Amino acid sequence: MSGSAPVAVVTGGARRLGGHLCTMLAARGYDVVIFYLRSTAAAQALAQQIEGTGRRARARAVDVGVEAQVAAAFAEVARTEGRVDVLVNNVGNYNPQDITALTPAVWDATLATNLSGAYYCCFHALPLMPAEGNIINIGMAGLNGIRANTRGADYYVSKTGLLSLTRSLAAGYADRHIRVNMVSPGQLDNSVDLPPPHEMGLTVPLGRAGELRDVAQAVEYLLDARYVTGVNIDIAGGYRL
Ligand SMILES: NC(=O)c1ccc[n+]([C@@H]2O[C@H](COP(=O)([O-])OP(=O)(O)OC[C@H]3O[C@@H](n4cnc5c(N)ncnc54)[C@H](OP(=O)(O)O)[C@@H]3O)[C@@H](O)[C@H]2O)c1
Repeated sequence: MSGSAPVAVVTGGARRLGGHLCTMLAARGYDVVIFYLRSTAAAQALAQQIEGTGRRARARAVDVGVEAQVAAAFAEVARTEGRVDVLVNNVGNYNPQDITALTPAVWDATLATNLSGAYYCCFHALPLMPAEGNIINIGMAGLNGIRANTRGADYYVSKTGLLSLTRSLAAGYADRHIRVNMVSPGQLDNSVDLPPPHEMGLTVPLGRAGELRDVAQAVEYLLDARYVTGVNIDIAGGYRL
């Protein structure tokens, strides 16, 4: 699909937030590579839908937690699309349980996908990025002040690590004008963990769950914000202020 349009790679891009971001990026003129794990039908349908709008799109199965698979997937991007202008590290598995019930197997799996997986994708995408390339990592609101999270500790540790990685990469690649930022949703309206509507205002000052388009708006801002790198933007209605 090698063409002249800029290329965006979105991990976990078949559906939900990742799928929404793929559609937004295509609408903004990017050819899109959708990395997915199990949602083959959804990924292919999305690629087809994007192709219907006149952009190029390709779906590629890859387990981001396995470095060899990430290396192979980006080698294919190098051969097929030839470049990566935008990388969105959207995979972020959340299987919350109390810290007292956490096991090493769950810990390892969460860190592998949410943190190491994002690093592997950055490592293999960066050589394919021209100046003005963009990496956007998807975090979780409330990382700016470290707090105890007895439920989902593995997830919060992975996202806190991802914020640290974001800042380090931003500083390290600034001289190549590659910007690295993070967008951190609070509770989205598709969350597995949503409080009932009458309780939403107790934790979210703006009183409603976030929508996919709220998150996409911040990603779009960062694509255009040529003087912004190393930041985290909470899209969370004031959650954990
Ligand atoms: N939803 C929320 O309320 C919320 C709140 C705060 C932050 N976030 C963050 O926003 C991001 C997206 O959230 P979401 O709820 O839309 O995500 P999600 O549904 O939990 O997962 C997105 C995709 O990740 C893919 N995936 C999982 N493990 C993978 C692996 N090892 N390799 C490759 N792909 C893998 C899955 O692909 P397949 O379907 O192909 O298997 C899945 O469709 C995450 O980083 C999440 O932490 C979400």
